[in-house]
Amino acid sequence: MAEAQDFTLKIRRFDPESGEQAHWQDFGVELDPDRSVLDGILQVKDREDASLAIRCSCRAAICGSCGVRINGKSALACNTRLSDAKQTAFNGAITVEPMGNMPVIKDLIVDMDAVHWKKIQRVVPWLLPEGEPPEREYIVPAEAMIDVTQSMACIQCGVCVSACLSLEVDPEFIGPAALAKAYRFVGDPRDDHTEERLRDLAEDPHGIYDCTHCFACIEVCPKDVAPMSQIMRLRRRATADFGIKDSNNGYGHEKGFVDIIEKWGTLHEAQLLPRSFGQGSAIRGQVAPDAVKQLLRDMPTALRGLRAGKITPKKALMHPKLPGQKNVRRIFEEVEGKKERLELNLYIVGDDGDQAEGAQAEGSGES
Ligand code: SF4
Ligand code: SF4
Ligand code: FES
Repeated sequence: MAEAQDFTLKIRRFDPESGEQAHWQDFGVELDPDRSVLDGILQVKDREDASLAIRCSCRAAICGSCGVRINGKSALACNTRLSDAKQTAFNGAITVEPMGNMPVIKDLIVDMDAVHWKKIQRVVPWLLPEGEPPEREYIVPAEAMIDVTQSMACIQCGVCVSACLSLEVDPEFIGPAALAKAYRFVGDPRDDHTEERLRDLAEDPHGIYDCTHCFACIEVCPKDVAPMSQIMRLRRRATADFGIKDSNNGYGHEKGFVDIIEKWGTLHEAQLLPRSFGQGSAIRGQVAPDAVKQLLRDMPTALRGLRAGKITPKKALMHPKLPGQKNVRRIFEEVEGKKERLELNLYIVGDDGDQAEGAQAEGSGES
C-alpha cells in the first residue's frame, strides 16, 4: 500500500433549498493515491461536510450510480484513481462536478429519470417476440448472442449521456446509451420487430442520424460498450439490410459518401449535398422537388463556404481524383466481394490472423 498523500478536491456545490447559486468549494483529503476519487468524496462527507450529496453504492464500477465529471471529463468516481485525476488537474486541484446534459438535483446528483431513463424507455427496452411462446425457454444460438454482448455490458451509468456533444446541441437526441440499448434488441434473433424498430429510429429526427461520430461516448464508457459503434450498426442494418430511405437523408448521405469515395477517393463536398438529398443520386438531388427545396434551403451555407474560401468554384466543379485512387476502388471490390459482412464485436478480442493460428493449432493438436 502506498503512503497517503494530500489532494485537493474542488467540488461543485448546489442546494436548491438554500436559494444560493451553484459554486465551487475546496476540500483537502489525505489518502493513498491508488484510492478513488469517490473515496476522496466520501472522506470529505465523513470528516468535513456530511451534507455533500453524491449517489454511490458498489464502489466497484458495477452499480453505475457514481457518474460525475472529473476535471471536465465524464467518468465513474469509483473507477478513477486520485493519482490519475491529479495528472489532469488544473492548478493542482481535482475538480468534481455533476454529469452534463442532465438537470442537477443537489451537488453531484443529477436527475437520471428526466433524461437518461426517459430515453431508455423511448427505445422500447424489452423483447417483442411474435407468436405462441415456446413451452420452455427460447433457444438462441450462442453466436447470435455474441453480437449483442457488447451492448448488454452497459451498467446504465449515464456517463456517455453526460459526454455526448450532440445531446448538448439537441437535448431531444435519443443519445448513446439508449441507442446502444436499442441495438441490444435489434440484434437479438428473438425479437420480431427489427424493421419497425429500425424505421422508427431512422425516421426520428433525433434518432440514429443525429450522432456526429465524435467518439466521446466510446472514450468515456467504463464498460467498453462503444455506444457509437452500436449506433453505426443500427445505421448499417437500416440501410444495407432493410434499405430504409429515411426522411432525415441518412440513407442518401451514407450512400452519397460511399459512392463519392469509390469514384474520387476523397470527399467531393459539392457532390455530397445533392446526393444526400437525392437518396444517394446526384441527378435526383437536382431534379426531385423535395430535394431541390432542401438544396435551396442549404444554399446560404454553401455560399458562406465559398466566401470563406473553404470551397472554390474550380474544386466544386472539377474535383481531382486521389492519386492511386485505383487502390481505393480495389479495397471496395475486395470488401463488396465478400459473401458475408464481417461484423466486429469489440468484446471479441483477436483478428483473422489469430483465427488462422487457432485453426493451425487445432489441426496440429496444439491447444
Ligand atoms: S459519437 Fe455520437 S452518440 Fe457518441 S457522444 Fe458523439 S455524438 Fe454522442
Ligand atoms: S454505454 Fe457505457 S457509459 Fe453509457 S450508460 Fe452504458 S455503461 Fe455507462
Ligand atoms: S459506486 Fe457503483 S459504479 Fe461507482
